[in-house]
Amino acid sequence: MVAFSALSGLSALPLLFSLAQCVYGVSLDVSTEGGNSSSPILYGFMFEDINHSGDGGIYAQLLRNNGLQGSQPDLTAWAAVGDATLAVDTQNPLTEAIPHSLRLDVKQGVSGAVGFSNEGYWGIPVDGSEFLNTFWIKGDFSGDITVRLVGSNTGIEYGSTKITQSSHSGNFTKVSATIPTKKAPDGAVLYQLTVDGAAVRGSLNFGLLELFPQTFKSRPNGLKPQLAQPLDAVKGSFLRFPGGNNLEGASESLRWKWNQTIGPLEDRPGRQGDWTYYNTDGLGLDEYLYWCEDMGLAPVLGVWAGFALQSGGNTPITGDALKPYIDDVLNELEYIRGDSSTKYGALRASYGRKDPWTLTMVEIGNEDMLGGGCASYAERFTAFYNAIHATYPDITFIASTAQSNCLPSKLPAGTWVDFHNYNSANNLVSQFNQFDNLDRAVPYFIGEYSCQQNNAWPFMQGSVAEAVYMIGIERNSDLVKMAAYAPLLQLVNATQWRPNLLAFTQNPDVVIETTSYHVQHMFSVNRGDTIRQVTSDSAFGPVYWVASSAGNTYYVKLANYGATPQDITVSIAAKTSGKLTVLADHDPNAYNSDTQTLVTPSEVDVTATNGKFTFTLPAWAVGVLAAT
Ligand code: AHR
Repeated sequence: MVAFSALSGLSALPLLFSLAQCVYGVSLDVSTEGGNSSSPILYGFMFEDINHSGDGGIYAQLLRNNGLQGSQPDLTAWAAVGDATLAVDTQNPLTEAIPHSLRLDVKQGVSGAVGFSNEGYWGIPVDGSEFLNTFWIKGDFSGDITVRLVGSNTGIEYGSTKITQSSHSGNFTKVSATIPTKKAPDGAVLYQLTVDGAAVRGSLNFGLLELFPQTFKSRPNGLKPQLAQPLDAVKGSFLRFPGGNNLEGASESLRWKWNQTIGPLEDRPGRQGDWTYYNTDGLGLDEYLYWCEDMGLAPVLGVWAGFALQSGGNTPITGDALKPYIDDVLNELEYIRGDSSTKYGALRASYGRKDPWTLTMVEIGNEDMLGGGCASYAERFTAFYNAIHATYPDITFIASTAQSNCLPSKLPAGTWVDFHNYNSANNLVSQFNQFDNLDRAVPYFIGEYSCQQNNAWPFMQGSVAEAVYMIGIERNSDLVKMAAYAPLLQLVNATQWRPNLLAFTQNPDVVIETTSYHVQHMFSVNRGDTIRQVTSDSAFGPVYWVASSAGNTYYVKLANYGATPQDITVSIAAKTSGKLTVLADHDPNAYNSDTQTLVTPSEVDVTATNGKFTFTLPAWAVGVLAAT
């Protein structure tokens, strides 16, 4: 018997639960013969810019409204410092893509520090790494530019640098400087740039200011380590991007356009995203693909399929009118996969990536069963499929819905279907056997799922329900090839959707590993390649299980969807020792948030006695036994 006294959250276990008569038992006999092969890429991620998961989130650029992008920018996040004023300047565009700049006006006779501040995305996380600051400046100037990272309430300085610089009124000059920093205790930090007012002749213009900490794997224009590291730790297998609804756009013209997300940042106009805010597109197509490469994830590219989220009704694009959009996807694929002798492969190489990217999975559209998309989807899917398949026969295609009435009557062989499932805890559990008896001909991608109940933080009962659903998926992972929790990330201060897998604030130390994050982590890092038969006298519920193996290691995943602890006995021939990881809380409503961390997994070493591992699975628990 293994004691769980180390389990966080169990210290408050009522005495009642330690009474033997309240503990029921389940015996599992895991076969070491035969079995079904499981999908090697079962667990991974779905990402779109929602909840400032990209801008202000995993994309490491820290200044908000940094390019004054869009057709009607304002001074959001900017404020004047000293005796000066700020304006959005349309007369001094930085580039065609970024047709505005930030003008600093200084009256004659003013001296001393004048300039501006930027408050970041509800703060700036200063993590103690060396920062890189880049900006463009235009106007007659020669002198020192001081950049500081300073506590907005305290005035405490967390980093500063002085740049001796000259600039001219004829053109923008690019300036780059590094800033050594010390870690700030919270996110209440401002970026401040000042010059001596006496050195300014009337005004100076600034364009596209960027501020980066040390990025994940030191990738230029890369990811924020605080968020990339916990994702990397999950050891996912794929990344679906760029959406979700954020692929679709609120109209055809606002769809995600791959060719406006590549190349130098000053040539990216950005776009109005679907989740209320403007997307800089600094996290663009190549950045997604570097993300995949840096975390060992297979990219799943969503392509626009003639269907936008038009408010007040949508008319999908069909027939010959689809051709330009299909051609656009072919260009995108040539950009990704073409060698440098091709037009778009050469463009990619000119942007610093000579080798083609690896891409073998393309999803056509997003949720085309909704909003009037269903009736035309079979036609649209077929048109995209035929054109892309002719050039890239090795690509696996994913239809954006599993609803048969929206799909071609006969899907091309090898096509997968995407099924999304946001559901209550009880409903997820009732869908445990959803895939057990389905025809095996058409593989599934569960492109988005999570327990969604009361718009709440991921909570223990919901996360156990997700584990039950995942056990159902894993038992059927000959059919279900991939599955992703969604949405992935949430800036607590700017949220459109709850719950999310990981949440964060701009305090460099605050990344909230939710109960659902822990479940994803436990299931993903303990993966077998063969699903093993399990024999038991007990029926499924409240305890659910699945067993798998990889080489000599056997994995038994368990969920206890109930308030009663359960004695578990597991027999696996010739296995004598192992590690048991358990996430549990007697309170089904327990959750982790920015103000509390109640539930974290515990690990204990276990040994088998007389060929049996025995332990108690607490109430509302998810467990993984890895036996060797
Ligand atoms: O994950 C949030 C949204 O849910 C996605 O953008 C969309 O695909 C789904 O409806």
